[in-house]
Amino acid sequence: MSNLRIAVQKSGRLNEDSMRILKDIGISIDNGKDQLKASARNFPVEVFYLRNGDIPQYLKDGVVDAAIIGENVLIEKGADIEFVERLGFSKCKVSIAVPKESNANSLQDLDGQRIATSYPETVKKFLKEKNIKADIHIINGSVEIAPNIGLADGICDIVSSGSTLFKNGLKEIEVLLTSEAVLAVSSKISAERRAILEKIQFRIQSVLKGQN
Ligand code: PRP
Ligand code: MG
Repeated sequence: MSNLRIAVQKSGRLNEDSMRILKDIGISIDNGKDQLKASARNFPVEVFYLRNGDIPQYLKDGVVDAAIIGENVLIEKGADIEFVERLGFSKCKVSIAVPKESNANSLQDLDGQRIATSYPETVKKFLKEKNIKADIHIINGSVEIAPNIGLADGICDIVSSGSTLFKNGLKEIEVLLTSEAVLAVSSKISAERRAILEKIQFRIQSVLKGQN
């Protein structure tokens, strides 16, 4: 019988909760994060530890069958990827923020200005919808520093506790979307592996029900 290949974030905010939910549904994985791949002892599952941003492409290519991933990453990099379950953790917003002394109160107010972000496709989508033009500067991390160093007038990034915005003297002016971890599925998954995934999904639903 073939194993279901499921991707989880290698390191970062989702990793711990992703591993916990697998444990909660009775899938025990031997190793820590040092290995990039690990098999479950008691279930036909292999776990792949990958970089968040790479996971959508792996799903599209069918290199992995499923993934625990932030909805925000799917929206940015894999809008056409199906997800079958919301997992209730890693809740965050993807928001527009500006220096607290700025007069801008919405994305509209950044028309013609510069926005720094790690979420260019998401920003472009909203700019297009609202018929706004702005210069997008792509930064892979520490986006909140951009206005302070004169690189941008506003930013678009993940807001969780809000502490990074606060520490950098920024204020949130518009929430583009809200997100949480989801169980995403490759369109190339085989029927045999889909059946394994359905078992996992069933167990996840029981665990989530128990938490409410
Ligand atoms: C993430 C995200 C925000 C911050 C939001 O950054 O890019 O900057 O967390 O969380 P908060 O609202 O609770 O402060 P991270 O710390 O993962 O680092 P990076 O941006 O350099 O990847
Ligand atoms: Mg950050």
